[in-house]
Formats: sequence, C-alpha cells, structure tokens
Amino acid sequence: MLTLSVLVNMLMILFLHSDITKKMPIVDNYGQVTVEENLDTDFSDKNLSAINLEKLKLGNCVRNGKTKPRKKLAGYNLNSMNHHSQRFVALKVMYFGLRFYGFASEAQMDPTVESELFKALQKTRLVRGDKKDWQYSRCGRTDKGVSSVGQVVALLLRSKHKEPGGDTSKDLVDEGPYEEELDYVRILNGVLPDDIRVIGWCHAPVNFSARFSCLSREYKYFFWRENLNISAMESSCKRLIGEHDFRNFCKMDAANVHNYKRRITSFDICPCNGSDQLMFMKIKGSAFLWHQVRCMVAVLFLVGQGLESPDVIDVLLDVDKTPRKPQYKMAPEIPLVLHSCEFEGLNFKCSSDARRALQLHLEKECRAYKIQAAIFQEALLSLLSTEDDGSVTTKKKASSHVPLMSRPTEPSYDERRAKLTFSAAGHHKSVVVEQDTR
Ligand SMILES: *[C@@H]1O[C@H](CO)[C@@H](O)[C@H](O)[C@H]1NC(C)=O
Ligand SMILES: *[C@@H]1O[C@H](CO)[C@@H](O)[C@H](O)[C@H]1NC(C)=O
Ligand SMILES: *[C@@H]1O[C@H](CO)[C@@H](O)[C@H](O)[C@H]1NC(C)=O
Ligand SMILES: *[C@@H]1O[C@H](CO)[C@@H](O)[C@H](O)[C@H]1NC(C)=O
Repeated sequence: MLTLSVLVNMLMILFLHSDITKKMPIVDNYGQVTVEENLDTDFSDKNLSAINLEKLKLGNCVRNGKTKPRKKLAGYNLNSMNHHSQRFVALKVMYFGLRFYGFASEAQMDPTVESELFKALQKTRLVRGDKKDWQYSRCGRTDKGVSSVGQVVALLLRSKHKEPGGDTSKDLVDEGPYEEELDYVRILNGVLPDDIRVIGWCHAPVNFSARFSCLSREYKYFFWRENLNISAMESSCKRLIGEHDFRNFCKMDAANVHNYKRRITSFDICPCNGSDQLMFMKIKGSAFLWHQVRCMVAVLFLVGQGLESPDVIDVLLDVDKTPRKPQYKMAPEIPLVLHSCEFEGLNFKCSSDARRALQLHLEKECRAYKIQAAIFQEALLSLLSTEDDGSVTTKKKASSHVPLMSRPTEPSYDERRAKLTFSAAGHHKSVVVEQDTR
C-alpha cells in the first residue's frame, strides 16, 4: 500500500526532475452554470450517491448554459434553502501548487487555491450567503507555486442535522455523529479540480480559528543531494533552531509586521525513502514570516555548496551586527510543501468511500507523472544517439561568488519605517493588507 507521503515524494521527484507542466484539469465554465442547475443536487438526501455527484458534474459541463427543465426532487424545498442548519467545521486540504497563484484569494491573479475552493463550496451549496457570513479562517497563506498536503481552513457548512425543537434562530449544530453527517470530503472532491483535494473534516469549537488556534506548522523542502556538503548544511540548520529575529531571512513587510522574532522548534535534513539522491529539509515552527523558509533554504544551499561557512547563520541572526539584509535570491518555490498544521483536539475524519476515491485519485496522478518522467528519460537516451563532433564554442565561465556579507544590502526595518512615515505624510498612503502568519 502506498502511503500518502510516499506518493507526495514521488510527485515531488517528478516536479524536480523535469520542468513538466501537468495536464491541466478541466475547469468547468462556471459562468455558464445557472443557479437552477446547482439546485438539482440534494445533499440532504440520506444516500448521497455517486450518481448525484455525476449528475452535478455532467449537468455543469454538458448543458452549457441551456436551461433544461429542472427535475423536482422529493422532499426538497427551495424556500427553506436559507434555513438549513449549519455546523462549524475544519477542513484539511491538499493542493499541488504548480498551477496556482498562491493559496489566498486576495492575490491579484487567478486561479488561487482558495478561489477554487470557494467555487466548489458555492457550487455544492455547502455555504450560504457571502464569504463574510462563513466565519472563514485559514491556517496560513502559501506562495505561488507552493504545495500543501495539510493546509487547514475553518468555516460554517451546511449540516444534515436539525437542531432539536426546530428553533430556526439557533440553527448551529453543536455535535452530531460523523457517520450521519453530509460526506463533505466526497461532495467537495466531486467538484474540485484534480490538483486540489479535501482529505478530512472535523467539528470545530465555536471560538476556533484556523489561523490563531494553530500550534505549529511544518514545511518540507525537497532537493537533490548532488555535491552538497550535507554535514555543513546540518550544522547550519541546527543554528536556526530556537527563538531568533529572522528579519535577515524573510521578505520584510515593514508596513504591517513589526516583530520578526519567530520560534523554530526543529530543523532536520533527511533522505527520502527509497532514494539516496533525493532529500528533504523538514522545518517546524510556531509561525513563519513571509518567504522565511525559502530564504533559510537559500542560505543553507550556499553553505552546502561550500560558498559560505555555517558561521554565516550566526552573523545573519545577529540583527544588531547585521541590521540590513544582504541581497540574495531565495530558493525556488516548487519544491516547498506545507506539510502539516498542528491543532489541539482536532481529529480529522473521512468516510471510507471518500478515502478510497482519494487513494485512487492520487495513485492515478502519480502514474501520470511517472509517465512524464519516463518520457524525459527517453529524451535523455535519444541524446546519446547523436555524435559529439568534438568542437567547443563556448567556455563556461567560472561563476564568482560574492560572499553574503560583502553584498549590497536592503534597507533596515528602521529605514523602511522612516520612509513609510514620510510617504504617508506626503502623497502616498500606505496600503494596509491583511497579514497572515505563514
Ligand atoms: C444508495 O445508493 C447506491 C448507489 O445508487 C445504492 O447502490 C444503494 O443501494 C443505496 N443505498 C440506500 C440505503 O438506498
Ligand atoms: C475556546 O473556548 C474554550 C471553552 O470555552 C476555552 O477553554 C478555550 O481557551 C477557548 N479558546 C480560545 C482560542 O479562545
Ligand atoms: C563539509 O563541511 C564541513 C563543515 O563546514 C567541513 O569540515 C568538511 O570538510 C566539508 N566536507 C567536504 C567534503 O568538503
Ligand atoms: C520506506 O519504504 C519501505 C519499502 O518501500 C517501507 O517498508 C517503509 O515503511 C518506508 N518507511 C517510511 C518511513 O516511510
């Protein structure tokens, strides 16, 4: 039996191995879907069968805007749609970041993971009203191209359970057996694109926030060992553990973030199971700054290549000595995965049907990527069939490394603040954006 992590590792191998672009999932043309068609699906039915989901999917892509007479479903009262009971639910979500402009729907570009998730929630009518009515929260944002196998969001979802006594003013269901609730995982996965999956749900307490109730977050960053000095990298990553000021390891947002201290609880470098070449870094902490993981990884790679000494970590963490971040490029986004978010007392569940479907779906995706990898292997082999004529026209320049501490620097926090105050007093107003922990 393939475990999820093995599957994810294999997917990552393929991501890294070649620059393949995944086959794009078929995105329904939501503009064409009439509201009436959406109402055809009755999830309050005791037996939510695959047939219903099929109908929903087919209905949306086949009908293509033509309004067909709507079938009446027994016991389904449209007028009561706004009065169904709700429950506060946490959802665990995985996504493969290649195609998305990050997780948060506030991004200027589409698609984002959240925008696809919101579409699925609305399409399946699991939510009512606007987003502001959902009490929605997310554990953290992830950047464009970053994947996750353990993102968590919380919101109010439609429930099959009725509040005893039929009190419509108090329609929030507290508890109820999981087996008798709507199969949220299966319903949502029936309409989500191939590269997003809900993998579990659980009841959340009323004061739960996916962002503020999160105890810790863990990231993985995959890479090839090649000639990297792993023991030097290990010595470096251990120096990042503990509470430090990480302003030299992030993208500074001086308008909104004033405290750059964060706690890293563990930082390890491990080989992937079944490979001596593919490895990953595993980083756990209470919360992370914008681009923090990718900045730390970038410096570790410089150390691994022998271009910097592990001591450079201590220098960068000392913000009195190093108030200005030297300019360096952060590590690429594709190998980064938000692996898990830790909460107290949440136990995510999934029906056996939905679980089986998830397993089949991921195995299928995995096989598709393996075929892509096989094609690239074939391409490498066919390169051998052409002969080298022995001529050399370009000489490879030895890339000269400029030591981090000799590089041009970015403005310090104080310099940025002074500039912000100046421009706020002048013509520009600083735009305040929502700042999540990442
Ligand atoms: C539920 O639906 C499935 C598929 O249509 C069917 O095989 C099964 O017998 C139904 N179960 C009940 C309890 O109606
Ligand atoms: C939520 O409420 C419970 C019980 O009312 C309380 O013990 C807990 O500390 C609260 N959590 C937060 C994050 O406010
Ligand atoms: C790897 O790095 C360590 C620590 O910087 C150093 O002592 C060791 O010589 C390096 N190994 C190689 C093979 O360069
Ligand atoms: C590593 O792979 C082997 C064989 O594929 C498996 O038996 C073992 O449980 C795996 N270990 C981990 C930690 O995943």
